[in-house]
Amino acid sequence: MNRQDQVNQSCYTANRVASTYLRSNLQVPEVLIYVKYGGEILGSRVLDIGCGAGRTAVFLSRWAGEYTAIDYADRMVELCKRRCPGIDCSVGDVRDMSRFDDDEFDAVFFSNNGLDSLVHEDRVLGLREMNRVLKPGGLFVFSTHNRDFVGAHRTPEFSFSLDPSVTLRRFVRYWRCQRNRRRNRRFQRDEAGYAIINDPAHNYRLVTYYISVQGQIVQLGEHGFELVEAYDLNGDALDTSTDNTTSSWIWYVARKV
Ligand SMILES: C[S@@+](CC[C@H](N)C(=O)[O-])C[C@H]1O[C@@H](n2cnc3c(N)ncnc32)[C@H](O)[C@@H]1O
Repeated sequence: MNRQDQVNQSCYTANRVASTYLRSNLQVPEVLIYVKYGGEILGSRVLDIGCGAGRTAVFLSRWAGEYTAIDYADRMVELCKRRCPGIDCSVGDVRDMSRFDDDEFDAVFFSNNGLDSLVHEDRVLGLREMNRVLKPGGLFVFSTHNRDFVGAHRTPEFSFSLDPSVTLRRFVRYWRCQRNRRRNRRFQRDEAGYAIINDPAHNYRLVTYYISVQGQIVQLGEHGFELVEAYDLNGDALDTSTDNTTSSWIWYVARKV
């Protein structure tokens, strides 16, 4: 395991972090994608990678004919199983899914930017594995951080409030962010096809992969997928012939060629 991997995996395994994923509802682009491709999901074999605490499992496990969920953080798997008793959910890593056969699934989901925890070489391994386990023509749905988003590079901020208890809480959070950033900013880098950024997620505890829309489309093509469509944070379909600067995350729908 490389150092960046250790940083991200230990973040997702932490109790405090894992339980934040119990709260979240579906995001607007996800709702649109689930509705639009619901006919394909219904009754089919679905693999939900990086299932977290079961936010997507709640929906996908009910629609799929056969639902399988994996996450490399054992704490997430525990929470997911507690939230959706009886589902097939276990510890597993996208980089090595040798327990699954070639062409086993009709649809693969890697939601909420889970793929972005990996270094570039491991992202490539993950894309290859997801392609392998998908049937030809199968659906691949995921989101990723947008390198061209204007607010991609942020540093910890602090502001006062008239309420001293709020100011104190904000200060503690600011202090935590600064401490984590001091530890993790050394992983940041700008490469030709992508960037690694220590962003505000989980108080700067994560080191995250960012890629442009054009870069992601090329990367999909290099690993046996073709883009169907992409959405921004508001759920608007993107013009994929150009890069986007306004949406922090982009949701992609692709198919195995
Ligand atoms: C941002 S969380 C999203 C969780 C969940 N999908 C959701 O939408 O609420 C990303 C998840 O991906 C998982 N993850 C990251 N890298 C992974 C990998 N290589 N294999 C499997 N799971 C991974 C993390 O443990 C974490 O639960």
